[in-house]
Amino acid sequence: MKRFLLERFIVFIVLALVVLSFVSFSFAEESKTITIGVSVGDLRLERWKRDMDYMVARAKELGANVYAVSADGDEQKQIADIENMLTKGIDVLITIPTNSKTLAPAVEAAHADNVKVIAYDRIIENSDLDYYITFDMLGVGKLQAQYLIDRMPKGRYFLLAGPKTDNNALLFREGQMMVLQPYIDKGDVVVVGDQWAEGWLSENAMQLTEDVLTANNNQIDAILASNDSTANGAVQALMEQGLAGKVLVTGQDADLAACQRIVAGTQTMSVYKPLPKLAAAAIDLAFNIVQGKTIETNAVYNNGQKDVPSINLDIIAVDQSNILETVVADGFHSFEDVYKNVPVDQRPEWPKK
Ligand code: BGC
Repeated sequence: MKRFLLERFIVFIVLALVVLSFVSFSFAEESKTITIGVSVGDLRLERWKRDMDYMVARAKELGANVYAVSADGDEQKQIADIENMLTKGIDVLITIPTNSKTLAPAVEAAHADNVKVIAYDRIIENSDLDYYITFDMLGVGKLQAQYLIDRMPKGRYFLLAGPKTDNNALLFREGQMMVLQPYIDKGDVVVVGDQWAEGWLSENAMQLTEDVLTANNNQIDAILASNDSTANGAVQALMEQGLAGKVLVTGQDADLAACQRIVAGTQTMSVYKPLPKLAAAAIDLAFNIVQGKTIETNAVYNNGQKDVPSINLDIIAVDQSNILETVVADGFHSFEDVYKNVPVDQRPEWPKK
């Protein structure tokens, strides 16, 4: 009997040890540092530098590593960058495609390594993309166009978009046309030019604006620029003609330079997209995916191949009237930075009493 009890006891101890070692093994697995690969389309634009800073900060809070690489606007380099990251070992991938249409092979490569892919701000078309996190893109275009229509319901408009290789450029335009088309049909809005700036680059936008101004004898009332880097080029071209501040100019991203132009009166508005929220949400999503947590999404985008579960965040139109309560109050840019070029005695009171 004693021996039987002893045997039972030994079996119990052995089992307990097995269970314990299994628990500590999985705990070790769970506490292994997560590496999030981030492939950025082009870090030369202010917009993406900010996104990266916010992502790195959030990852740090969670104790995760970020392995980021910029493709500098080169779609082939971006595919190679991602393959390289996979070789080095990442647990999950966030990408901002340079070209939404050509990055599908990178999704396949990641899946072959059991790495899930999140498209950030720009979708990856015709791919088995896992998640998409973004702002309301059609909403951006609608907000820009509505802003102009509210101030200039009749006039000569120049449409200045980003490159067609960025699916977002097409979505912004689609949103803009939802608002503009009835005014164009009535003849109230006359489109004097319709151009797509390569690489979203300011110098290209400037050249296109110069051409349109020349072709129209400077007779332009509004420039519907799809983002702040194109707005920058447009404003430079207007300056050369002494027209800055006289022609309405839209934008997007609330870049610091754009905010400075807004308070100076040379750019009329921008669409503020709270990047800290987007960046933090993307890192949280990546982290939760690796940890096998349940993922909550609030939208669906079809990328040509599938309905991609998506997270959609809200946007805000910013101009002189609300720049303090939005961009500055959020700490997106400091009051001093935004009003840097405005003489101290002409600056508004901030914080308001
Ligand atoms: C983004 C914009 C950005 C543009 C240029 C777009 O895909 O949505 O926020 O200004 O790319 O980088």
